[in-house]
Amino acid sequence: MKIDQLDLRPEELVSLSLRTLYKRHGYELFRMSKFEKYEYYAGNKDFLVSDRVITFYDTNGDLLALKPDVTLSIIKNYFGSGQEKQKLFYHENVYRPDLSSGQFREIQQTGLECIGPLTGEDLSETVMLAAESLQEIHPGYQIHFSHLGLLTDLLDQLTADESVKRTAIRLISRRSLHDLRVLLQESEASEVMQNVLFSLMELSCPIGELPERLNAVSADAFFRNEAGSRAIRELKEIAGRFLNSDLSTHMIFDFSVINDLHYYNGIIFQGIIPGLPDAILAGGEYDRLLQRMGKKGRAVGFAVYLSLMEKLQNAEAADDTEEEFLNIALPKGRLGEKVYELLASAGYSGEKTQENDRRLVFENRKAGVRYFWVKPSDVTIYVERGAADIGIAGKDILLENNPELFELLDLKIGVCRMAVAGPKGFVDDRERVLRVATKYPRIAKDYFAGRSRDIDIIKLNGSIELAPILGLSDVIVDIVETGKTLADNDLQVLKTVCPISARLVANPTSYRFQKTMIQAVTDQLEKLLTDQI
Ligand code: PRP
Repeated sequence: MKIDQLDLRPEELVSLSLRTLYKRHGYELFRMSKFEKYEYYAGNKDFLVSDRVITFYDTNGDLLALKPDVTLSIIKNYFGSGQEKQKLFYHENVYRPDLSSGQFREIQQTGLECIGPLTGEDLSETVMLAAESLQEIHPGYQIHFSHLGLLTDLLDQLTADESVKRTAIRLISRRSLHDLRVLLQESEASEVMQNVLFSLMELSCPIGELPERLNAVSADAFFRNEAGSRAIRELKEIAGRFLNSDLSTHMIFDFSVINDLHYYNGIIFQGIIPGLPDAILAGGEYDRLLQRMGKKGRAVGFAVYLSLMEKLQNAEAADDTEEEFLNIALPKGRLGEKVYELLASAGYSGEKTQENDRRLVFENRKAGVRYFWVKPSDVTIYVERGAADIGIAGKDILLENNPELFELLDLKIGVCRMAVAGPKGFVDDRERVLRVATKYPRIAKDYFAGRSRDIDIIKLNGSIELAPILGLSDVIVDIVETGKTLADNDLQVLKTVCPISARLVANPTSYRFQKTMIQAVTDQLEKLLTDQI
């Protein structure tokens, strides 16, 4: 019987092609059991996507886990002398919680790992195979890549303060250039290196142009420590491998690709395809994991998340129109109305709805935009899941939900602050646990953890000011705009946590595929806002 008579699902067909591809390049199939002793994961939590795993006792009383990851098991089995190279591929299911819902999912993964005394040639081959893998899935794929050696060298030259480094990494991965500027100016980071950082953030080019573009920003002169100069060397070598290859236009340098710094230390990359909000491929060099296991050598690999192909089919079925719209989630209320007015004056008005029109969706085909009115706290959910490409969200929601979105612009409207407030004359008794009522448990937790204060969080959904009045809490963490609500309830600000304003956010995949349009909207908004001030 022929393969096309087997009625295989698209992900099964792709899995078969990938198997052939990897075998052709000398990779051997690695098969493993579904279970691993739990203690192995407990000792390596920082290398896992989530520290939650499904566990159970077997008949001997051993605590076992359903595998949340494949790479850890492969590394465990690597003989580790550092003398010989192992090239392995796998096709396995892993079990991880979804980061937003917390629900466990079975994830079908195919991938490969190359471990041992690796050369630049091995790194290039891995990146090339990542590109060839995605070509099997969708012709419109892109691979966005960077090198963490550049990032670590740059950060070391920018600041010695570890907490500034951590914040900078988060802001780079969110493309939050405005907040990054404020952070670096406040931390008195070297101006020359700030310029290098912002040039790298703006540098987005196909791999073939990378060596020339790195020379144009004098990268060799700025990246002088071991990690940095190795990064430049390896990037140029990989670019050389793609020279004259049709795949090279799909490979885009993108400094905001960071992934997990605990895990990766060299080249890193993410593969995306149109219509899927999440990366379908992720990989890079991860020598630290080998070192942690006391093994020598280097390791590089990637995983293709085949389960996501089902979402791709759903997206294709839902989007039966030929038209390409930029979908914009507006928060219902004054803030959303104001941003819409600005966009409309920049030429992106929707078709005029009648007064009291309760339609939640309206569009302008000519300008290629479609708007949705959504609950303000839901904007990030629509954008993160790709139902909207961009949206307007308060910094309070972004800090609280920490969605994986790009933060393109501080709109400088909806300005207020997050504050700790309490009854007038309140004195904190550090011998007691402080009871904190809030709509923002994560912000409250982070703020007090940074001050080593033990707190008991009471999560409320509104009218937070009532809590200290009724003795439900000692203080509150909440938004303060004019301060009238606090004053009218005999409360006062005790500490400011951080300033808040509305931000233009984008789904990273949408931003990458529709960069020209999204950047045009961003620039227009920025210009109009500057003109207003
Ligand atoms: C917000 C916030 C404060 C108030 C602050 O409440 O939670 O209660 O605004 O504004 P002010 O400083 O100008 O007085 P919101 O109106 O969103 O209602 P909520 O209490 O139901 O959350």
